Amino acid sequence: MKTGQKIFNWYQKNKRDLPWRKNTNPYHVWVSEVMLQQTTVQAVIPYYKKFIKKFPDLKSLAKSPLEEVLPYWAGLGYYSRVKNLHKSAQMFFKEKRIPKTADQLKKYPGFGPYTSKAVSSIAFGEFVSVVDGNVIRVLCRHENLKILWWKNTKKLEQIAQSWSKNLPIGDMNQALMELGATICTPKSPSCNQCPISKTCQANKLNKIHTLPLKRPRKNKEIWIWKPQVMFKNNKVLLTQKHSCPFLKNSWLFPGSIHKKKTPPQKYALKHSITHHDIFICLSEKQSSKVPSKWYAVNEIQKVNPSSLLQKVLKRINQ
Ligand code: ADE
Repeated sequence: MKTGQKIFNWYQKNKRDLPWRKNTNPYHVWVSEVMLQQTTVQAVIPYYKKFIKKFPDLKSLAKSPLEEVLPYWAGLGYYSRVKNLHKSAQMFFKEKRIPKTADQLKKYPGFGPYTSKAVSSIAFGEFVSVVDGNVIRVLCRHENLKILWWKNTKKLEQIAQSWSKNLPIGDMNQALMELGATICTPKSPSCNQCPISKTCQANKLNKIHTLPLKRPRKNKEIWIWKPQVMFKNNKVLLTQKHSCPFLKNSWLFPGSIHKKKTPPQKYALKHSITHHDIFICLSEKQSSKVPSKWYAVNEIQKVNPSSLLQKVLKRINQ
């Protein structure tokens, strides 16, 4: 039996019963894939269920103001993704359709190569292969590929496509992801349960733990942020006109920010967002010269769901 068929058969028998696998509604597929880019399947499930209950279709998301959507993303991180999701939902609703090919989808906010291909293949059956971290692991190990996959995934896409020939592409893409997520795991793969272990080159050569090659990590940047937290009648002052490189265009406390080579000796809090290590220093100075707005303390999550603001407020109230 061919490799692709073995993976497909294994998936049909072993796939997890996940809420977004009940149908191939393009809107549902899209929401789930955006969420799944940031964290694991298990972590996404409760967020997905709540999100779809509140915004069951494209219209309900497009017609809701962003402030109503943001709290449903609180805790998932990468808030630009939900802003783009909302923006694209409004565009699709206006255009009365969700485009069916990855090339068309790529033109919309938030649709990178991964999301575009995942949506077009799973929801519309377009014959394109999705290559995420899980798929990269399966392919590099099976083929014993010592390639710099972060520079180019063309070769991996070609192999995935050759495995998917004459099989339902949406299922095959999910099957490869599922195999990587549940069997061909990074640290302790279950090769004895793997449907393609017999032909796996890395398994044969005892090279499983050396593949795929490790992507060089982006160096962490150190930033010192001195937010000025000002209160008035249970409201707090926030601005969008800040120069913080993290949470761009989000509402934050006004204040100064600068980059450093070494961490400060004294700071009130530390918070990390992607490759930014933020050292937060709290001062007493009370003035703000940037355009800003007062927000009720208990409504901050509506304009910025990041835990960063909550963390600072908690520290101040200690
Ligand atoms: N990771 C991202 N998308 C996925 C999917 N549809 N199934 C399983 N894992 C995934």
